[in-house]
Amino acid sequence: MFTELPLLPADPILGLSAAYHADTNPDKVDLGVGVYKTEQGNTPILGCVKQAEAELFKTEASKVYTPPAGIPGANRAAAALAFGEEHTVIHDQRLATIQTPGGSGALRAAAELIAKARPDATVWVSTPTWGNHIPLLSSAGLTLKEYPYYNFSQQRIDFDGMLNTLSQAGKNDVVLLHACCHNPSGADLTQAQWQQLTSLASEQGFTPFIDMAYQGFGDGIAEDAYGVRLMADTLPELILAMSFSKNLGLYRERTGSLNIVAPSATAASANLSQMLSITRGLYSMPPAHGSSLVDIIYHDRTLHAQWLQELADMRERISGLRQQLVTALNHQQQHTDFSFIAEQRGMFSFLGLSEPQVTRLKSEFSVYMTDNSRINIAGVNSGNLEYLAQSVCQVLR
Ligand code: LMR
Repeated sequence: MFTELPLLPADPILGLSAAYHADTNPDKVDLGVGVYKTEQGNTPILGCVKQAEAELFKTEASKVYTPPAGIPGANRAAAALAFGEEHTVIHDQRLATIQTPGGSGALRAAAELIAKARPDATVWVSTPTWGNHIPLLSSAGLTLKEYPYYNFSQQRIDFDGMLNTLSQAGKNDVVLLHACCHNPSGADLTQAQWQQLTSLASEQGFTPFIDMAYQGFGDGIAEDAYGVRLMADTLPELILAMSFSKNLGLYRERTGSLNIVAPSATAASANLSQMLSITRGLYSMPPAHGSSLVDIIYHDRTLHAQWLQELADMRERISGLRQQLVTALNHQQQHTDFSFIAEQRGMFSFLGLSEPQVTRLKSEFSVYMTDNSRINIAGVNSGNLEYLAQSVCQVLR
């Protein structure tokens, strides 16, 4: 059996870390995998997480299985962060929430739920989208189609193209959207565009499926959930995948949440039972550590405030780096306008380079990014900024 399978190439995003670590150039720059980094290039544990862990160490009395839906306090926290404490979908019990192993676990479980409810559904994904969306959704057997999202030559959203294509989506269709900090482009919908998209969903009857992996990295908790809350206010159904990897720095703890907004409380209960049957078949029950921390931090006034400050610090550092990068690139050359980088949000932007230029950056300058020239802005610091700008300008010549 095990002579049948060929060797696969490394994952296009995760494989960059191994290549970067194997590189002996002291000037190497890692702009690959989307993890937050400090000025020193570290990804430290947040202070609020350290304190919550100390609290958990004192109070955790058992390692018995979590309930299949996860830790109730963490589910309440996830729902409140996404929809706001008082949202009608919570009040009317139209919301089914389960804890998942990361945002990826939520995406995969949702894909299975869609496949069960509507086996002939088409899921529309943005071009481009996060590299792992397509494998996660298609492994549940779903049919995928693409809608235009980012215009590479103009470095902005092609909203007319998006609306035109999605006007073909109907009742059987699901449309995958990024709540904020679009991965990989960094280009987010405006509030007016969310409103237009919500009207289109209402007219056409398609179900929005929102991936919110970077809540708080764009403009703030409530601001980044604008589209989620608007759609939940207006539409009968919604799927929401959430991740705490980035905004609580819980990457390896695999802490996420799947939320289904259903037309009624009865439908929400039925979908909850289906989600639990799906996850029982995938991984039985979710891990506890990360979600215990979410529960503690969300419900402790001091830790909650500390978290919001730490999140704001990460967000503001990234937005400062965006401006610094534009200045450094403009200082080196005048042919390409990079000002769009300062206008975008979250960890990522495209530099707009070709694949051969990205390959040259890796092989000649030890500057690592995905082949489509997506960079993790958080990987920039004052020590590598000038070298990065010079290297990019060398390959642009
Ligand atoms: C990324 O896009 O780099 C991150 O979300 C990490 C991942 O799993 O791909």
